[in-house]
Amino acid sequence: MDSEPPSFAERLRLLRARLGLSQEQLARRLSVSFATVNRWEAGRSRPSARTAAAIAELEASASRGQRPAQGPEPAEEQEPAEERTARLPIAQSSFVGRERELAELAGLLTRSRLTSLIGPGGAGKTRLAVETVRRLAAAGSGAGSDVVFVPLERAVQPPRSAASRLAARLGVRDRRDVPQQQAMLAALKGRPGLLLLLDGAEHHREELAGLVGELLAAAPGLRIVVTSRVILGVPGEVCWAVPPLDCPPVAAAAPEVASSDAVRLFIARATERLPGFSAADVPPHAVGELCRRLGGLPLAIELIAGWVGTLSVREIVQQRVALLEYDPPGAQGSRKLADVLRASYDLLEPGQQRTLRLLSVFAAPFSLTDAQAVIGVGEPAAAAALRGLVDASWLAVIRGVEQNRFSMVEIIRTFAGARLQDADETAQVRRRHARYFSDLAARAASSFGGPDVRGATARLEAAVDDLRTTLEWAA
Ligand SMILES: Nc1ncnc2c1ncn2[C@@H]1O[C@H](COP(=O)(O)OP(=O)(O)O)[C@@H](O)[C@H]1O
Ligand SMILES: [Mg+2]
Repeated sequence: MDSEPPSFAERLRLLRARLGLSQEQLARRLSVSFATVNRWEAGRSRPSARTAAAIAELEASASRGQRPAQGPEPAEEQEPAEERTARLPIAQSSFVGRERELAELAGLLTRSRLTSLIGPGGAGKTRLAVETVRRLAAAGSGAGSDVVFVPLERAVQPPRSAASRLAARLGVRDRRDVPQQQAMLAALKGRPGLLLLLDGAEHHREELAGLVGELLAAAPGLRIVVTSRVILGVPGEVCWAVPPLDCPPVAAAAPEVASSDAVRLFIARATERLPGFSAADVPPHAVGELCRRLGGLPLAIELIAGWVGTLSVREIVQQRVALLEYDPPGAQGSRKLADVLRASYDLLEPGQQRTLRLLSVFAAPFSLTDAQAVIGVGEPAAAAALRGLVDASWLAVIRGVEQNRFSMVEIIRTFAGARLQDADETAQVRRRHARYFSDLAARAASSFGGPDVRGATARLEAAVDDLRTTLEWAA
């Protein structure tokens, strides 16, 4: 329950924005813990009288010579021109892990002029891009010293083109005598070494595909980093798929479980949510399994961690996907997992949407041949369909010597399965799936007397989960 009027949480966020402090930094100034500031900003607790006085003092000093507070953080469009530039967003929560990815990306960003971080909504693209750039800047690397962050993920009213939102962030004013594009190019020429971070580019893909090429051609020192659910498809674009958070393997020992990024994120958010919560109180394997089942998707892990105040970890594991359907009001700002998935799905071409729906019938990772049977097309067409879904991060690839396999995390499979139901395609594709696996089982059985017993056993073993779901469906 909110025990704090929302205005206090807003005031605090505004104060931090004005002072340019992270939650950690503000916590240090006030001599409280990071989790405390986080709870205040989430409206879950109130500061003591002494701390409230210290906050009021900070506010008074911040507003000396500045605009008075006017409700929530000003929207991008209302900011005066001189304040529109740069500024990476201030993180509202602690950053967890990702050391390998940060190192890899930092290298990539210094080498490539156009880098796109690709992944589904909630994969951690924005967080990772911002953190990489922030660290580059802190390290005094040339690549991060002049940064302009352009948030494009959320639509603005009235709708505006990406070019005009970019121009605003660059501080380029609308002038009748000079076309906007020309003014923008002139502004870029005056900032060699600038790094543009275009965040959430998926809704402006076509426009940006053209614009980005022009900007890069006109400003030789310019670097662009894009985060998007789909690739831009521009020559020279280096696409980097944002991997899921590192999850512990099934047989991992407790320390290995506890040190994986996904489990650390769960524990961090659970502790912010429930101050008494301790990692020692929960069975580490249950949390490891939970994170694996959520496919290491940071947004899903954060949302599910919000349930620790109400349910035990074992109950959360049992209910997981169902719980995600019930994102509580106000969770993660207004981000609901179902909305994020739906918005990502809407960005797929109709053919890709259909492929995704059909592939949701697989209970376990599948090969190209398996996929072909269920989609009902030839091998090259099936391979192209899988590639589209891999590129958009709906499918993960498990590399093998002979053949790769593809897997869909449970939340995506559940979502795609629901779309399959909506589209009235379930019976038809279930029948195809059943026929394929019963043929496979019959062939394997007939090889049992022959020379390839091992191969047949391996194929049956790999098909066990699908055979079981097929039998259940048939029954
Ligand atoms: N490495 C991380 N450490 C802490 N929180 C993270 C991390 N990666 C993602 N998150 C959190 O997960 C949620 C989704 O991440 P975000 O970067 O917004 O995803 P995307 O941009 O891919 O939609 C956010 O609340 C974000 O703060
Ligand atoms: Mg984002």
